[in-house]
Amino acid sequence: MAARTILEFPHPILRRKAKKVRRIDESVHALADDLLDTLREVGGVGLAANQIGDLRRVIVIDIPEEDDPRVYVNPEIVHREGEREVTEACLSVPGYHGTIKRAIWVKARGLDRSSNVFRITADGLLAQALEHEIDHLDGILYFDHLEAHQSLARNETGREEEDDMESVAV
Ligand code: NI
Repeated sequence: MAARTILEFPHPILRRKAKKVRRIDESVHALADDLLDTLREVGGVGLAANQIGDLRRVIVIDIPEEDDPRVYVNPEIVHREGEREVTEACLSVPGYHGTIKRAIWVKARGLDRSSNVFRITADGLLAQALEHEIDHLDGILYFDHLEAHQSLARNETGREEEDDMESVAV
């Protein structure tokens, strides 16, 4: 277990599609632990395996109000409902944030780290993080959702901490 380096855009691995995990073995547990350690070190909300250079479909999400972080293997969004504007940022695109559209709520499914099937209905930050992290597994970055006339905004110098609070680094 160790905190790993977070790859930054335009690293090509961030644009690759991650592969389905066939069996949750020790190496998948080690990957999940590294993701959790890395996320804890930087204090973000979510992280996908691509971001530490591993192309397996594993994500972790740590919602501030929740006790334990979530580990999801082969997660997929099976339903999206509604549309809302959110301000979003990404640990692989430091120094920027942007306003994009996300679903109001989503249904997702996949496996937890004990190979049990999970099915969840999520809204708020969890829904946003699920969409963001599962996008990562498909090589999609949040700014791909900007409309043609929109662009990312640069975080104000010296206010990075506060900006991170306003926009969610996922
Ligand atoms: Ni991200």
